Amino acid sequence: MRKKIVVTGGTGYIGSHTVVELVASGFDVVIIDNLFNSDITVLDGIHAITGVRPRFYDYDICDLTQLESVFAAEGQVDAIIHFAAYKAVGESVRKPLEYYRNNLVSLMNLLDMMERHNTPALVFSSSCTVYGQPDELPVTELSQVKEAASPYGYTKQAGEIIIRDTMAARPSQTAVSLRYFNPIGAHPTALIGEQPHGVPENLVPFITQTAIGIRDELKVFGNDYDTPDGSCIRDYLHVVDLARAHVMALQRMLEGKNKANYEVFNLGMGKGVSVLEAITAFEKATGVRLKYSVTGRRAGDIEKIWADPSLANRELHWKTEISIEEAMETAWRWENKLKNR
Ligand code: UD1
Repeated sequence: MRKKIVVTGGTGYIGSHTVVELVASGFDVVIIDNLFNSDITVLDGIHAITGVRPRFYDYDICDLTQLESVFAAEGQVDAIIHFAAYKAVGESVRKPLEYYRNNLVSLMNLLDMMERHNTPALVFSSSCTVYGQPDELPVTELSQVKEAASPYGYTKQAGEIIIRDTMAARPSQTAVSLRYFNPIGAHPTALIGEQPHGVPENLVPFITQTAIGIRDELKVFGNDYDTPDGSCIRDYLHVVDLARAHVMALQRMLEGKNKANYEVFNLGMGKGVSVLEAITAFEKATGVRLKYSVTGRRAGDIEKIWADPSLANRELHWKTEISIEEAMETAWRWENKLKNR
């Protein structure tokens, strides 16, 4: 029997790429997504890539009645991968309660479902934001979890703690938190990718929208940081590499290879790249010159962070395979595809 996986947020950016990898690995995928920050046409993209159209529920996982009806209809579910959440750092500062309610109620509802319907495994989308500004780089999973810079960051910290404590009380279930660094790029087919609503907050969609003429210029947020070129440093990884890590983490749990019933992994390339270097990578990969200027620092930005991904390399047998230039090239191809729609 094929294993059945419920993917919340499966039409979102990371969710849709993970659905593609799950289907390619032979899983039976069920998506729950209320399309708050995604588009129904993503299902067409998934179908075009994989030849499969996953079952889809346009439901809000904060609504326990709707969620219950999915689990009742689907029967035995082997695992949940939980992506669905609000993720805009700045917005979370303006609307903290909405972030806490949405991101935490949804998670607690899913943990309830796992108990009621005997779902053995959970993969949780966490973030490197839980480390705040680390004292030492690169960060390992043992690095200190610091004060978060935003309510969004706190929802990820709290989410991890809720899962840890719940798993401690449920020894027969397993869960993993995956701490993503900065996912970028799009599927190489350019059939799915990132589709921000409105003005993008993240760097790469802003770069591609500027290059294609939707935005006048990219503003580089600060060049007076304590970094070699003065701009902030992040660990950018391709979204398909990130998606593959979910499949590997899932298989580890389903095969009982996990070493504890709650585990945490950093998912990054292990390399720090500055904003100015990211711009150069885009220009090199695409041959397009980007218009940009330096402006002031963005509130809440971390100066520099990159991952030590060796635990995931060793335990999940995962490592990134796609370079930042290739990632930029896929992002650019996707932006061009969006333009011609
Ligand atoms: C942050 C969080 C990440 C979270 C993500 C959600 C940290 C370290 N990272 O990512 O965990 O999942 O938000 O959206 O807390 N930049 C510009 N100009 C722009 C846009 C961005 O210079 O127009 C710079 C930023 O200052 C930053 C880098 O580009 O240095 C990356 O920014 P962004 O893509 O927004 O991601 P993070 O802020 O790193």
